[in-house]
Amino acid sequence: MRIVRTVRELREAVAAARAAGSTAALVPTMGALHEGHLSLVRAARSEHGFVMLSIFVNPKQFTDAADLAAYPREEGRDAALAEGAGVDLVFAPDAAELYPGGFATTVHVSGAITETLEGAGRGSAHFDGVATVVSKLLIAAAPDAAYFGQKDAQQLVVVRRMVADLGLPVRIVACPTSRDEDGLARSSRNVRLGAEQRIRALAIPRALDAIAEAARAGETDAAALLARGEAVLAQSGVDAEYLALVQPDTLEAVQRVTEPTLCAIAARVGDVRLIDNVLLGDG
Ligand code: PAJ
Repeated sequence: MRIVRTVRELREAVAAARAAGSTAALVPTMGALHEGHLSLVRAARSEHGFVMLSIFVNPKQFTDAADLAAYPREEGRDAALAEGAGVDLVFAPDAAELYPGGFATTVHVSGAITETLEGAGRGSAHFDGVATVVSKLLIAAAPDAAYFGQKDAQQLVVVRRMVADLGLPVRIVACPTSRDEDGLARSSRNVRLGAEQRIRALAIPRALDAIAEAARAGETDAAALLARGEAVLAQSGVDAEYLALVQPDTLEAVQRVTEPTLCAIAARVGDVRLIDNVLLGDG
């Protein structure tokens, strides 16, 4: 496995893989790799001869300086995990490689999909940062396909919109949320949870489960479904920043759950902000 730091080396490596007859896949990450990221790598590996993984803690998508500073950086460990999962090339640029002096372009996806949920909680600058860096990574690596996790459902919606609007020639592949045995969605932030906080955090997947179960049992009223989830959260003293039932493509709130519907949550446990979601009515 190679680690490269410049776009020029990345392009040369992809060109060589293509010349040898491979298709290429990119898994964009901010490092601090865990099983969730590796499940994306394995999905990419099963469909492509050349698998690239990018590691870049993108300052532009952090709206909280303390969160950026606290973000775990452990490249040696990440490289070993990436290699073990079958990555061919790690692209780990420094900030100046992606944002050289004078950098002045922002990719802004407008409308409800960036203003609601995470956009409301973290500010629209978050998705500007995501759309800008993902478009740069897709242009730099020019993969046939790029792999993203359903864990960040809104990010996926925004990336799909951006790729369609800019006409980028890449297939966006969504991979299911990978969870720990206790149900908590895997996240680089979970390591910051203390033992007691980790137990409280389990109210998040349990609230989603309660809502999904009520929906399966025939409840269609969004307010009634959300109340089920709120009750589970309240038992553990977890206060949701949002708990919402939304249309999966437009992210507009729904009153009745009669079509596939995304149930999304964000909650702070201690000073750790966690997000999770489940798709209702998906078979
Ligand atoms: P990061 O949080 O490192 O996540 C990288 C990719 O892994 C994203 O597509 C995310 O949805 C996916 N992922 C994270 N946890 C997962 C889990 N438990 N199950 C399945 N997939 C999971 O998301 C970002 O980085 C950044 O915003 C990025 C897209 C790299 C742009 O900077």
